[in-house]
Amino acid sequence: MQIFLDTANLQEISKGIEGGCISGVTTNPTIISKENKPLQKCIRDISALDPDLTILVEVVSLEAKDMINEARQLSRLANNIIVKIPMTSQGLASVRILSQENIRTAVTLVFSCNQAIAASCAGADYIAPFVGRLDDINADGLNLIKSIKKVFTIQNAGTKIISASIRTPQSVAELFISGSDIVTVPGNILQAMYKHPLTDSGLQKFSEDWCKVPKEL
Ligand code: E4P
Repeated sequence: MQIFLDTANLQEISKGIEGGCISGVTTNPTIISKENKPLQKCIRDISALDPDLTILVEVVSLEAKDMINEARQLSRLANNIIVKIPMTSQGLASVRILSQENIRTAVTLVFSCNQAIAASCAGADYIAPFVGRLDDINADGLNLIKSIKKVFTIQNAGTKIISASIRTPQSVAELFISGSDIVTVPGNILQAMYKHPLTDSGLQKFSEDWCKVPKEL
């Protein structure tokens, strides 16, 4: 079970690392566009915070041969890169070649069980279904994760599920219960996951009572 942060923002990532429970970062072209610096610098800066972090970086080419070249370059940017490839026939053709070169891939923009099956058969190490974007259009993102997990378990597929596009803290636990291997969350959802009013009031009471304990001289 792993939690990733869905951001390229260094402050958010530092806060997440300090919080102790994130082991990776996911990016996409939209996320990178918010940081106002070149992609390569974004990735190197993130890796400098913690070289063990898994970092997902997305190709922007659309043709297989260009995606493959781009993926080779991206994979050399830092220690622990997974290249995100879009869920298209050209994308899956690239995944096949990249897996033979031991470049790890995550097929992104997955919205159906058949897309997940196709990506896994092509050799994807990970797939990233966008749970929130399905919920946004009144479809059932959680149910998609359940179906994919069922197929991957029955078929003993090695591809791991990264649930992405997360909108609420509550959905994180539901996604893990449904078999997600990784959930990637925005910074605000990670912070909300730590919170419970009973933790705060319980801690306050412990502190108050501790003051009443006589201290050794
Ligand atoms: C991460 O890998 C995805 O690109 C991201 O979670 C998409 O989130 P959004 O639907 O909030 O843009």
